[in-house]
Amino acid sequence: MRHQFDGIIPPDPTNAVADDDDAKRLGQYLFFDSGLSSDGNQSCATCHKPEFGFADPFPLSTALDVTTRHTPTLTNVVVNRWFYWDGRCDTLWCQAASPLETPGEHGTNRLAVAHHIHETDALHDAYVSIFGPLPDLDDADRFPPNARPVVDDETHPEHIAWETMTEDDQVAATTVFVNVAKALAAYERDLIQMNARFDTLLRSFDAGDETGGDALSLSEKRGASLFVGEGMCWACHSGPGFTNKEFHNIALPSVEGIDNASGGRYDGINALLTNPFNSLGAFSDDRSDASLKLTYLVQSPEETGAYKTPGLRNLLDTAPYMHGGHFETLTEVVQHYNQMDDRPVIGHREELLLPLFWTDQQVADVVAFLESLQSDPIDPALMVQPTTPY
Ligand code: HEC
Ligand code: HEC
Repeated sequence: MRHQFDGIIPPDPTNAVADDDDAKRLGQYLFFDSGLSSDGNQSCATCHKPEFGFADPFPLSTALDVTTRHTPTLTNVVVNRWFYWDGRCDTLWCQAASPLETPGEHGTNRLAVAHHIHETDALHDAYVSIFGPLPDLDDADRFPPNARPVVDDETHPEHIAWETMTEDDQVAATTVFVNVAKALAAYERDLIQMNARFDTLLRSFDAGDETGGDALSLSEKRGASLFVGEGMCWACHSGPGFTNKEFHNIALPSVEGIDNASGGRYDGINALLTNPFNSLGAFSDDRSDASLKLTYLVQSPEETGAYKTPGLRNLLDTAPYMHGGHFETLTEVVQHYNQMDDRPVIGHREELLLPLFWTDQQVADVVAFLESLQSDPIDPALMVQPTTPY
C-alpha cells in the first residue's frame, strides 16, 4: 500500500527493525522508561517532552546535569541525514545509544541497560521476540552489573569492569544495547507531523488552482513569497521538512551556558567518523551504501561554527529556537536574519546571509507564514508510554 509519506521518510537499511511494529512499540515504551537511567528518574521524555513537540521549552535541559545545547524537536526528525546539531551521528539508532551513556543525561551504561532488559519480565519477552535470545546475563562473572568503555578515563570503575570481560561478551552486551537504540529509533520514525495549511495550499496548486485557494491568509502568502524570494530562506529551509539537512553558520550571538567556542559541524565530522556506532561500523545491519555517505566527508575549516539546518514545521510547539535556545520568539528569529549584524562567535558567516532591510510588516508576514506551518497535533497514542512493551 502506498503510504502518504512515501518518498519523504527515507528507508534505514542500517536498522533491520526500523519499520517493525513490535520494535516500534518496544521503543515507545523505552522512550518513557526511567529504568534506563542511573538514578531511576530520567528518560528520553525528560528533555524531549511530548507536549512541547518532543523538545524542551527551556533553552537548555536538565536531567542528571544541564545540557550544553538546546534540546531539538523529534517530530519529523526522520527526514534528516545527520543527527545532533553538529551531525555527529548518521543514523537515529547511533544517536539513541549516546544519551544513555552520557553522564549528565541518563548516566547509565550498556551492561546496566542489558541487565534491565533481562530482569524486567515484560521487556525480556518483548526483546526476545524481536531480536532473539539474550546472552547469559545471570552469569555475574561474565557480565558485571555496571560496565562500559570509557574512552577518556581508563581508571573509571565502569571501564575497569569492562576490561574484565572477554571480547565476545563485550560484543554480546553491546549488541543488546544497540538493539535497544534500534527500537527507540523505530519509534521515532513514526513521529510525523506534516499536515499544515501550507500542505493544503500545495495540494490546491497540484489540483490546478493557481491562486492557491484560501488556505493561507494574505499576510501568510506575502510571508511565503518573502521566504522563497528575497529572504532566500528556501536556499536552506527546503523540501518537505523545510531543511536541506546540511550545516551552516548563521552568525548567532553568543549565549550563556553553551559552549560558544565549539567548532560545531567541524568537530561533529571528526566525532562521527570515529563513532563506533556510525553506519560503517560493526553494529550496522547494512554497510553497503553507508560508505558513500561517510567517505566523502572531510573536516573542512569552512564547517567551523556551522550547525544543522532545523526543519521549520510546528514551531509554535518548540520555542525557544536555535542550538542554544538563543531566541524566545519567531519575531526575534526573523529580526536576526533581517539585521544580520552579528559577527559569528566562531568561523565565518554563510555568505548569502546579508541584512534584508525588511519593514516590521514584512517581518510580521514572514512570522505569520512560519506559523502557518503548524500541523494538526500528533496522534496522542504516540505521546504516552504504552501500558506494555509488546
Ligand atoms: C538531558 C536531556 C536529554 C535526554 C535525557 C535525551 N536527550 Fe536527546 N537531545 C538532547 C539535546 C540537548 C540534544 C542536542 C545535543 C547536540 O546536538 O549536541 C539532543 C538530540 C537528540 C536527537 C537529534 C535530533 C536531531 O534533529 O538531530 C535525537 C534523535 C534525540 N536527542 C533522541 C533522544 C532519545 C531517543 C533519548 C533517550 C534515549 C534522548 N534523546 C535523551 C537532550 C536530551
Ligand atoms: C544559509 C542557510 C540558511 C538560510 C538562508 C536561512 N536559514 Fe534559518 N536556519 C539555518 C540554520 C543552520 C539554523 C540553525 C542555526 C543554529 O542553531 O546554529 C536555522 C534556524 C532557523 C530557525 C530556528 C528553528 C529552530 O527550531 O530552532 C528559524 C525559525 C529559521 N531558521 C527561519 C529562517 C528564515 C525565516 C529564513 C529567511 C529569512 C532563514 N531561516 C534563512 C540555516 C539557514
